[in-house]
Amino acid sequence: MNHKKTLQLPSPYRLVELECVDSTNAEAKRLAEQGAPDCTIVWAKSQTAGRGRRGREWVSGDGNLYFSILLRMPYPMETMTQLSFVAANAVADAVQVAAPRGSFVNVKWPNDVLVEGKKISGILMEGEPDMETGAFKWLVLGIGVNIASHPVVEEGAYPATSLAAQGSTGADLDVAAMLDTLAKRFLAGLATWRNLGFGPIRRHWLARAKGLGGPVTVRLPNETIEGVFGALDEKGALILHLDGQPNRTITAGDVFIPF
Ligand code: BTN
Repeated sequence: MNHKKTLQLPSPYRLVELECVDSTNAEAKRLAEQGAPDCTIVWAKSQTAGRGRRGREWVSGDGNLYFSILLRMPYPMETMTQLSFVAANAVADAVQVAAPRGSFVNVKWPNDVLVEGKKISGILMEGEPDMETGAFKWLVLGIGVNIASHPVVEEGAYPATSLAAQGSTGADLDVAAMLDTLAKRFLAGLATWRNLGFGPIRRHWLARAKGLGGPVTVRLPNETIEGVFGALDEKGALILHLDGQPNRTITAGDVFIPF
């Protein structure tokens, strides 16, 4: 559970290390507005206003990993989704290293990482679009990994877990080591994505996808759809097969997969 002060991330990362902040995503956005460089990482021991997807809270006590990566290339709009899959792959790889040997580590659409079917990590991407170019001025990729603890989830929400709850001990609960592994895996994934495109990222994600080919429930703001998780399209959308109806392409929503 150490939060070492000596973490050296490889170039081009630049690490901003904080004891406590409202939200590392909010801080990364503030730094972006002040001109912080590409690959700035904001890492905090705890957050007072951690943000989850769809306006939810991300409970952020000591002992877990909370960080955000600022990306500054002129990324076209569709890349936001693709990069969140690069991040999910990196998280799943890093969690697999620290989880007890033989643990089942899966990804769940769009960007959750599960251990033994329970959510251990979430990713929140936010960006500032440039209306003139149609690209993002910057993107902030926020990642939370439950290491020491996990929230008690409310009725109907997806079950949560942490590395500690799964039985990891000692160095496997080192927050800095998790950030180190994850940041390096993300850099490797970013290079793959830049050189070879989304194809290999998508395949890597699909190899770990929970529920592929099986029944899923998708909760959208105004409807709940039951179908079969058929595929992930080339933009990162979930393709849902419906009984006797055309496929639905899902670009936002919460997916529930039966245990
Ligand atoms: C989700 O709802 O699954 C996404 C959770 C994202 C949480 C991380 S913690 C670090 C970063 N800062 C935030 O405020 N949120 C993200």
